[in-house]
Parts: sequence; structure tokens; C-alpha cells
Amino acid sequence: MSMPEVPLIVSQGPFDAPRHVAIIMDGNGRWAAARGLPRTEGHRRGVEALRRTVRAAGELGVGYLTIFSFSSENWARPPAEVRDLMALLRRFIRNDLAELHGNNVRVRVIGEREGLAPDILRLLDEAEDLTRRNDGLVLVVAFNYGARQEIARAARRLAQEVREGRLEPDAITADSLSRFLDAPDLPDPDLIIRTSGEQRLSNFLLWQAAYSELVFVPVHWPDFDRAVLEQALAEYRRRERRFGGLVAQTGS
Ligand code: FPP
Repeated sequence: MSMPEVPLIVSQGPFDAPRHVAIIMDGNGRWAAARGLPRTEGHRRGVEALRRTVRAAGELGVGYLTIFSFSSENWARPPAEVRDLMALLRRFIRNDLAELHGNNVRVRVIGEREGLAPDILRLLDEAEDLTRRNDGLVLVVAFNYGARQEIARAARRLAQEVREGRLEPDAITADSLSRFLDAPDLPDPDLIIRTSGEQRLSNFLLWQAAYSELVFVPVHWPDFDRAVLEQALAEYRRRERRFGGLVAQTGS
């Protein structure tokens, strides 16, 4: 009698990847300093790590990848470094947008638009517009982003709704506030990764991180690659997510 053709091991392939991974790309400066190189070189190599990571995340079945590219607090860096980071964003969009589009990646941008240079605004709009109908990996670029500022913006919009009589103050709930965040249609991150060993969120996705698993990896961002991403995903799978309840849910 022949054995029924039922697989004994269910594939642990891309299907158990977390739906949404967010990354705090930290350590460019330290990576450069350790090699006697200028910080700019660390950021430049950081963009290469970003390219690798977008490709790997898509291959591993991640649906949404959010990257912290420029924080509201990064304006406090020396003007030359701020200029470098702006130039890197320009170059990233100009050089990589066509390829991202060709790979069916949809680009979304979160953060404060006010105060950004007009050409940067145009590039961010162009990236979102060109890729709007893509249904592959969603790459969420957090640019000029701070979570407290995002929550304050949402509160301002809610207050406006109340002032214009469309909403009763008593009707304000966590759900109604979250509808006014920068990208309310995106799922919350399942996993937040921070590189370079620092263990804090630094004003990144504070609202959305309520139930995220946090994984801190010791490598500096320019050294991040598919292998490190896979290790972080493996760590995520070992975690037991309960969302405040009692029933354990496995990763993903
Ligand atoms: C942290 O390293 C990194 C940043 C502040 C910016 C991240 C930017 C990139 C990876 C490249 C830019 C990409 C785009 C799309 C604009 P750090 O400078 O804080 O490093 P340190 O803590 O070692 O000084």
C-alpha cells in the first residue's frame, strides 16, 4: 500500500514572515568612525544596506517595511550632515525609484512635510504617485518623522473635527485618533528592529508599537544584510505574542 502524498513538514518558507517590519537604521556614524572614515561614508554605505534590505524583505515575504530615514530630531545635527542626508534621499529616489517600481514596490512616506525643501517634496510625491498601483512590498519611508509630532498632528485634526461639529469629544477613542495618523491604513508593525545595539525607540512609531516585538541587533546599519534580517525574523518567531490576552499566538 502506498503512502498518501501528504507533506510531513509544513514549509517554514516566506509565509511565516511578520507582515510589517520596521527598522531603526542606527550606527552609520560609528561604522565610519571605526574605519577612520567620514560620517558621510557611513550614511552612503547605509543606503547600500537599505537596498539589500528592501530586496531581502520582499524575498522573505515581508509585506510592509518601514525605515526611519530622517527623524524630526536629526535637524539638530551639524548643517553639513543634514545636507548630506538630504542629498542621499534625493539620490536614493532619483537612482532607485525606477528599479523599485520595476520590482512592484509601493513607496509610502510618513512624517511632517512642512519645512522640507520643495524639490524633496516633489521627489517624495513622485515616488508615491509612480508606485501607487503596485501591489508588492510596501516601503514606508519615515522622513522628517517623529512619533510625538505625528500624534500631535492627529490630535490637531481631531480637534478640528470637533470644532467643525463632525465629532463629539466623548466619541474620541484610540481607534478614532489612529484614523488621523499619517498612514492609518497600514497595519501596526509586528517587529521593530534597531541596529547598533542601542535599546530604545527614539520617538519612532510610538503609537503603532504598542504590541510590536522589539529586536535589537549588535551590527551597525551599513553591515546589515539578509542574514541579519533572517536572524531577527527567527528571533521574532521565537516570541509569544499575547496582545494583552492569555492565548499565545505564534509569530506572524
Ligand atoms: C543613523 O546613524 C542613521 C541615520 C540618522 C540616518 C539613516 C540614513 C540612512 C541609512 C541613509 C539615508 C537613506 C535615505 C533613504 C535617506 P547615525 O548617524 O545616528 O550613527 P551613529 O549613532 O553611529 O552616529
